[in-house]
Amino acid sequence: MPTPIILDCDPGHDDAIAILLALASPELDLVGITTVAGNTTVDKTTVNALRVLAVAGRPDVPVAAGADRPLVRELHVAEHIHGVSGLDGPEVPEAASEPVPGHAVEAMAGWLAAAARPVTLVPTGPLTNIALLLERHPQVRPSIERIVLMGGSIGLGNVTPSAEFNIWVDPDAAAAVFGSGLDVTMVGLDVTHHTLLSVDDSEVLRASGSVGRFVAELTDFFRARYARIYGDPIAPIHDAAAVAHVIDPTIIKTRRLNVEVETASPLTVGRTVVDLMGVSGRSDNAWVGVTVEGRRFSELLVDRLTGLDGHAGSASGL
Ligand code: RIB
Ligand code: CA
Repeated sequence: MPTPIILDCDPGHDDAIAILLALASPELDLVGITTVAGNTTVDKTTVNALRVLAVAGRPDVPVAAGADRPLVRELHVAEHIHGVSGLDGPEVPEAASEPVPGHAVEAMAGWLAAAARPVTLVPTGPLTNIALLLERHPQVRPSIERIVLMGGSIGLGNVTPSAEFNIWVDPDAAAAVFGSGLDVTMVGLDVTHHTLLSVDDSEVLRASGSVGRFVAELTDFFRARYARIYGDPIAPIHDAAAVAHVIDPTIIKTRRLNVEVETASPLTVGRTVVDLMGVSGRSDNAWVGVTVEGRRFSELLVDRLTGLDGHAGSASGL
């Protein structure tokens, strides 16, 4: 039985690849996509999600637009990494579908209520929609199997020395999710800086067909931006690592730890404080990714994406 998932995302190059991995994997049933402001504004992340579905020939997958800003703070976007469109680099086809009416939080609540069994939420952007869902619709908690999120870091940050971008954009929402008492898994930078697509991987993808060519062009752009901004020409496919963990939980090793989110200090706001040494006395509240078999990740990703062609509803091996 495939695992039902809802992807809550801010496409974004790596979010786009996460969507395609989910569509290409028979272990998953992508119930729907919700979008949030993060890498760029929510109008753009929403149209980007629709355009990625057009690339995959899957306009049937429902997309609902969510929060246009964090719970209480101003929105900060990452267009310096993802470009003004949020998906700069490749030629991206126009959307072949429209978002469902209404807010993503109501859509998620409806999808969860209608689900035949509990659904895994896979947030790969700021956690604003998830925090709003838990606040406005507490009745859906039994319909949430677990939350496997891309965000945070045991070690250094990427948007400040302390904080990873998704948590930093909306630390109040992140604190609510880690404090929710739900089964939360954090796939952070300690793992995702090793879940890379290499130049060779991109060439294999480029030769494989329309979807592979699109992903290769996404990684071309992403690698060039990483080189310019961080001085390291790598393409960490952060968000696909969270999806990969749902597909095959042996690729990323996790430990049960306490995670708290800094929401006050101007210097370290957005930091996930992970009690790796068990010194805080605080109870464990999350599974935290600590190591990853990077080559197994990229082999899974390339294998699945080369098998996904861009025709309506088809993906070889499904
Ligand atoms: O820090 C990496 C995360 O921030 C990824 O989800 C990327 O898409 C951006 O949202
Ligand atoms: Ca993202």
